[in-house]
Amino acid sequence: MTTISIIKADVGSLPGHVSAPNHLINEVEKVLEEGMEESTIIDYHVASCGDDIDLIMSHDNGEGESEVHELAWDAFQQATDKAEELSLYGAGQDILSEAFSGNVKGLGPGSAEMEFEERESEPFVAFLCDKTSPSAFNYPLYKMFADPSNTAGLVLDPSLHEGFDFEVLDYYEGETANLSCPDEIYDLLALIGETSKYTIQKVFKKDGSPAAAISTEKLNLIAGEYVGKDDPVAIVRCQSGYPAVGEALEAFSFPHLVPGWMRGSHNGPLMPVSEENATPSRFDGPPRVVALGFQLNDGELIGPKDLFDDPAFDRTREKAQNAAEYMRRHGTFQPHLLREDDLEYTTLPEVLEKLDDRFS
Ligand code: 13P
Ligand code: 13P
Ligand code: MG
Ligand code: MG
Repeated sequence: MTTISIIKADVGSLPGHVSAPNHLINEVEKVLEEGMEESTIIDYHVASCGDDIDLIMSHDNGEGESEVHELAWDAFQQATDKAEELSLYGAGQDILSEAFSGNVKGLGPGSAEMEFEERESEPFVAFLCDKTSPSAFNYPLYKMFADPSNTAGLVLDPSLHEGFDFEVLDYYEGETANLSCPDEIYDLLALIGETSKYTIQKVFKKDGSPAAAISTEKLNLIAGEYVGKDDPVAIVRCQSGYPAVGEALEAFSFPHLVPGWMRGSHNGPLMPVSEENATPSRFDGPPRVVALGFQLNDGELIGPKDLFDDPAFDRTREKAQNAAEYMRRHGTFQPHLLREDDLEYTTLPEVLEKLDDRFS
């Protein structure tokens, strides 16, 4: 069995919240190189989306394995030290704990992991986001795994025809529900359209094989205050019983509105871009998604191919920019501004508190 683990964090940025500089990438690479020499992991690739560093690792230790998590933790510690040394912005932003305790879950970094028997050929795509939250994947994952207008294979390919099961997490209760699609598509949509409460955490084939895994940590719920965001990542297996690579990418051809832009307080379009263009500049955005394609070879990561680095997504980017302009013109008004319960963990409540006694 092979495990893919993507563990990610924002531990410092150049400047503000725009990019994770090479100074930090080099630090995490040093640690992962040691991890490879010591056989904690089989292979790795370090990527970034905006100010988030994504450690894409393969190993044979299973999900949530403490040695692998500790390696990622050490990598982010070392990068945090560097960020502090260089006085980078938000040094150690997503590190919420002093000490490591078995697993990065609850300590700040996000993780998406998947263990499976490697197929004869094993293509997968790592989707990496900045300036948004895990439920940004609700819409594209529904399109990918349940909507034949996106994924023709659901109709055309007997190996996809029976559909997929979705594991949905209730952020606030910490409980999950499994929905079997296509039978329960309407029930699924009734939940996942409510993006501030429900997020897709995993997708499975009917035989239980994993199809997708999403990082679902909500930093503000862990910290109880605004500390930067839970910019999410997802792993999606492709071809031969799964959506084709092009079907997985097609799900991002509409730049849907997601929360997380500027101060984690605004809705904006999710713009698919190359890794090089994942530098959220305008109003710290708009929110970005990068897609890196890999082939596994006995645990070795062949690739990546930067999949949104393609003129075929120019129209989507143009649409995203039109939507960004339209949303920006709302200034501090909803629906550009998030709804009240989503602003609970931003800096707005401090301002509102001052106005409390002005009401009578
Ligand atoms: P190939 O025949 O090139 O494998 O493509 C299969 C396909 O239809 C992908 O969309
Ligand atoms: P990050 O969560 O990417 O650090 O962004 C913080 C923010 O809200 C910038 O406007
Ligand atoms: Mg940041
Ligand atoms: Mg970020």
